[in-house]
Amino acid sequence: MAATRTMMRYGGRRWFTSCSSRALRWWDHVGPASKDPITGAIEAFLADPSPAKINLGVGAYRDDEGKPVVLQCVREAEAKVAGSDYLESVSSCLGSKMVEESVKLVYGEDSFVFREQRFAGIQALSGTGACRLFAELQRRFYPDSEIYLPDLTWSNHHNIWRDAGVSRRTFRYYDPETKGLNFSALLDDIKNAPSGSFFLLHPCAHNPTGVDPTEEQWREISSMFKVKRHFPFFDMAYQGFASGCLVKDALSVRIFLEDGHLIGCAQSFAKNMGLYGHRVGCLSVLANNTVQASMMRSQLQQIARSMYGSPPMHGLLLVSTILTNLEIKALWERELKVMTKRVQTMRTALREELEKLGSSLNWQHVTNQVGMFCFSGLAPNEVERLRKEFHIYMTIDGRLSMAGVTPSNTTYIANAIHQVTRERARM
Ligand code: LMR
Repeated sequence: MAATRTMMRYGGRRWFTSCSSRALRWWDHVGPASKDPITGAIEAFLADPSPAKINLGVGAYRDDEGKPVVLQCVREAEAKVAGSDYLESVSSCLGSKMVEESVKLVYGEDSFVFREQRFAGIQALSGTGACRLFAELQRRFYPDSEIYLPDLTWSNHHNIWRDAGVSRRTFRYYDPETKGLNFSALLDDIKNAPSGSFFLLHPCAHNPTGVDPTEEQWREISSMFKVKRHFPFFDMAYQGFASGCLVKDALSVRIFLEDGHLIGCAQSFAKNMGLYGHRVGCLSVLANNTVQASMMRSQLQQIARSMYGSPPMHGLLLVSTILTNLEIKALWERELKVMTKRVQTMRTALREELEKLGSSLNWQHVTNQVGMFCFSGLAPNEVERLRKEFHIYMTIDGRLSMAGVTPSNTTYIANAIHQVTRERARM
């Protein structure tokens, strides 16, 4: 029975064999897992032998040449840490320094959160690991609770809370008609959820839609959370990538802080420092006082210990160096602006090319949306045609990573999009 349940949850029904000699047939009931939409797009791209292929699948920064970038601030941090000894004591002390600096990035240098040590923070395996640690904490202390995820959201959010054993619900967020925010529906869903529910919010550069609430809308959302006593959990995967400014991109969380919420926040340095492969991130949860914070920290440490022991060291050294060295940090902030500007320029270029080609569809959303992604509105069959006929790869929901758009491929991409949407445009 348990095996059947597991099998149904993870797929692969027809592979199940009920047999008495189980010891010899341990894995007969295991079928293939369903493909992850993001890694699936990358695999399809890698398998394509065409030299003309373009990867718009993954949300990782690329330069004007379409190449992955090692930021200069990372190079300088590397030079500083070269030869450091990897002592365990150094690891834990640097870990807490990195956590403190990360918390300041969210709440501000002078925030009482830091001054009064009102947070339980822990180094995490990037944003994914931070979300998973929080999901485990949620299940441990609120075993009957659910998580409300935006519709739409990063596909992995569903996997993370599912695997932590927390049921998922969704609240309305994106409006396919306007390709913008469905604000009234969002507020209604927050209002109608049972009081004291857990909600996941994207504080900036929403993935996959690129659609963020305005400051005024955030204020309304925060007020409604107060009325309903909901718990806000922010997944901050792209701080700096919406506006180019770390402080502006933290505005939503700071509005919630002003309103007195206890907040959970996952941070990742995969995108804004280009350290995807190093898995450096942070989870912080605000507490009512220092004692509560330290008890919660001990719980988080215990959860992490049983999941992966301790996090990797090298990325930690890089991130702590960048965050604690004033010159290198300033360099990072300048580089963040350059990356954001490049992506914004590509948004304008792509829209202009589409309009120049005479597409009668409205492409305003390409420049209205922010962050790394453009939620293009392309239908799955159009995405398929882009792959097959033009060797352009994006996720099947039509999410296009603007970081993969460059001055030399914009015309090609715009023309391909125009070709596959021509029929729809005529309707
Ligand atoms: C993405 O959405 O493409 C990124 O967050 C990368 C990932 O791991 O999914």
